[in-house]
Amino acid sequence: MSTIPSMTESQFNALAKIIYDRAGIHFPETKKYIVESRLSHRLTELELQDFDQYIAFLTMGPYQSDEFQEMFNRITINETSFFRNEPQLGVFEKQILPELLEARSRTKRLRLWSAACSTGEEPFTLAIIVHRTLGVRLKDWSIEILGTDISERALNIANTGEYSSYAMRTTPELVKSRYFKEQNGIWSVDPEIRSMVNFELHNLKDRLAAKRHGTWDVIFCRNVMIYFDDEMKKRVVGMFGDQIASDGTLFIGHSENIRNVNDRFEPLSHVQGFCYRPIGAASSAAA
Ligand SMILES: C[S@@+](CC[C@H](N)C(=O)[O-])C[C@H]1O[C@@H](n2cnc3c(N)ncnc32)[C@H](O)[C@@H]1O
Repeated sequence: MSTIPSMTESQFNALAKIIYDRAGIHFPETKKYIVESRLSHRLTELELQDFDQYIAFLTMGPYQSDEFQEMFNRITINETSFFRNEPQLGVFEKQILPELLEARSRTKRLRLWSAACSTGEEPFTLAIIVHRTLGVRLKDWSIEILGTDISERALNIANTGEYSSYAMRTTPELVKSRYFKEQNGIWSVDPEIRSMVNFELHNLKDRLAAKRHGTWDVIFCRNVMIYFDDEMKKRVVGMFGDQIASDGTLFIGHSENIRNVNDRFEPLSHVQGFCYRPIGAASSAAA
């Protein structure tokens, strides 16, 4: 069995540029080992001799777009869990959601986007929160929750609605017993919750596709901007600014900041909320 020669610096630079141009994901030199280790196996599958051949296959072959998808399936980091960062979700549940429900009490229409949702735990968590907040009133509302990601592999898992115990590690016991069924170590999301969420492939670089999705009341985009440089962050934050309702709320990850790249949103003061409202927005209740 032949072994793949290690990735040279220039091969890494070429691949890092391709990845950045396509998806805005920034791999610094220190993360070369991730790209190398995750793609080596792919080279073996394709029976390619080295990374030069892979780069040619990726950029010049007739299967280009399929291979880009395959590459993103492998190089993205899909770490997530249900009820990730509970204090922040508490701000959503106790402060933002009640205000929004009040503001939308006439139209009874609410739209939530979980951008870069990985394997679906985040949008299902939002569905559970909306479900338990509205209770019997849910039937009177039109609730749209969309989970998007660049990884088709991650979305395929999301679409099954089935998870290992690891995905449940930050889920409160009460939620587990009310909204999941466990069999042989596999946790299945309640069918009613599943029916509240749709999944779609979407690259955050694609502004046009985002436009087609219309305006969102809430956007969660957590733990992906850490992989972006300022230019890409600015582009994504600008896109969210275009696609959010004037009284909508953007939630970001607790270790992320958009300070240098943002002229569209102002931070809300909720402790541990890591949330933003479009600049100049009227308060939700008044809208
Ligand atoms: C660490 S996960 C975060 C999942 C979830 N938001 C959370 O906080 O638990 C990051 C996700 O971002 C996705 N991603 C990376 N670059 C992307 C891009 N350009 N467009 C859309 N999704 C992207 C990855 O595929 C991965 O599933």
